[in-house]
Amino acid sequence: MLRRWVKVSMKKEKFSFPPNFLWGAATSSHQVEGDNRNNDWWEWEEADRVKEKSGKACDHWNRFRADFALAKSLGHNAHRFSIEWSRIEPEEGIFSEEALYHYGEMIKTLRIFGIEPMVTFYHFTIPLWFAKKGGWLLDESPEIFARYVRKVVETIDTPVRYWITMNEMMVYVYKGFIAGEWPPGEKSYEKAFRVLGNLLRGHVLAYQVIKEITATHPLHTNGGQANPLPQGEGSPNSHRQSLQRSGEGSPNSHRQSLQRSGEGRGEGLVGVAQFSAVYAPCSKWSWRHRLSTWFRAKMTNHLATEAMVYGKVNYPGLFQIKLPRARTLDFIGINYYTRYFIHNRGFNAAGLLGDDCTLEHHRDVGKRTMMDWEIYPRGLSQLVKEFSKYKLPILISENGIATADDNERAEFIQNHLGELARAMSEGANVIGYLYWSLLDNFEWADGFFKRFGLIEIDYTNQHRRVRKSAEKFAEICAHGEILI
Ligand code: FCB
Repeated sequence: MLRRWVKVSMKKEKFSFPPNFLWGAATSSHQVEGDNRNNDWWEWEEADRVKEKSGKACDHWNRFRADFALAKSLGHNAHRFSIEWSRIEPEEGIFSEEALYHYGEMIKTLRIFGIEPMVTFYHFTIPLWFAKKGGWLLDESPEIFARYVRKVVETIDTPVRYWITMNEMMVYVYKGFIAGEWPPGEKSYEKAFRVLGNLLRGHVLAYQVIKEITATHPLHTNGGQANPLPQGEGSPNSHRQSLQRSGEGSPNSHRQSLQRSGEGRGEGLVGVAQFSAVYAPCSKWSWRHRLSTWFRAKMTNHLATEAMVYGKVNYPGLFQIKLPRARTLDFIGINYYTRYFIHNRGFNAAGLLGDDCTLEHHRDVGKRTMMDWEIYPRGLSQLVKEFSKYKLPILISENGIATADDNERAEFIQNHLGELARAMSEGANVIGYLYWSLLDNFEWADGFFKRFGLIEIDYTNQHRRVRKSAEKFAEICAHGEILI
């Protein structure tokens, strides 16, 4: 009897992801393009503030077509990448036609492959001229950012449905203005909160610009009927099918087919990629550690999201902001990697945020990646459920592992997708999963040593090699099913 019960309870169930689910990977400009000499990170590298320089990185600037062809061969139907602001606006108010054309080509190439482009405007790097002026500390930084966004959205004529204004605001604020590990290397809570306010205002202005332009631009118009989710006609899948049906492939014929069918049309959808971690108290018996854990989660996972959803937040004595408008998210991108243990250090801002004592006290709690991050798949379902309270579609905009053991990567993906499926089977509204990253790349202060890619890069000759884990992920993308 007992044996039978055990057998039954162990039986896994098949979960089918929705047919229009977005499957793919993500990158960011500075990490893959190479030769991004005109931004604050390049200068930081030149000043020997990090162990390795980005240099040619993956030379993705010149090789994006081949890289997207690989993504296509791996069954991806979505791809997230970022536009390098310093290339688009190399000097203040001067826009590069060449760079605008280049990113237009990237988007067009993705569309031709039937891959949904997901475009990020700000992924940690800013143009040097902007950095020199004061960057995100400037009162007018939101307007300066929105002017760049406007230029891009007005110029790119291939429809883009998913726009991500900012990547991990809180990480930028923390690393650049509290820890001082990233440019501009500040250590000031006052400045950190000022920058956060400007990033949030920048997001709201960008949201308004994208909505305004995509609602009136002919290629984006669908008679005023915004289609908020990738369902049915107009979805990446139906789009791909129609391309296959018609056998069309050239950029022009492709654009005509989009116009004819109405596919890819509709108001742009705007979101952010939100740093999202799972936190646990160093000791669950300590109310101080529990308080800090709650506070850390509130500050890093939710503060920015609350501001964008409700239009204001008020954390007395710490941070207040009232934004020009509420509801500036159409979807929430979750970047999830790991769990942190938190140790309270007092009751001012720094003490309440506490220390991350993960490596000190909890090193052996689970398997660790090359980044020394714990592999904790359950965290993904936990976070998806936690973020469901905003009642917005959720995109997993990053999730990945740096490892020298590719089997571990395959397992990581499988287990995280299992958790995602579990959350979805319980009702979470998730529209896609993007693995970080398509390619091995320049991992900021950690350089090239950390290997996140589905595709391995040999940096001596830029050769690409598709990893086995990428093929396993491709099978899941193709069938859209997983056992949970
Ligand atoms: C995220 C960043 C991304 C990459 C991964 C590993 O925080 O958004 O650029 O560095 O971590």
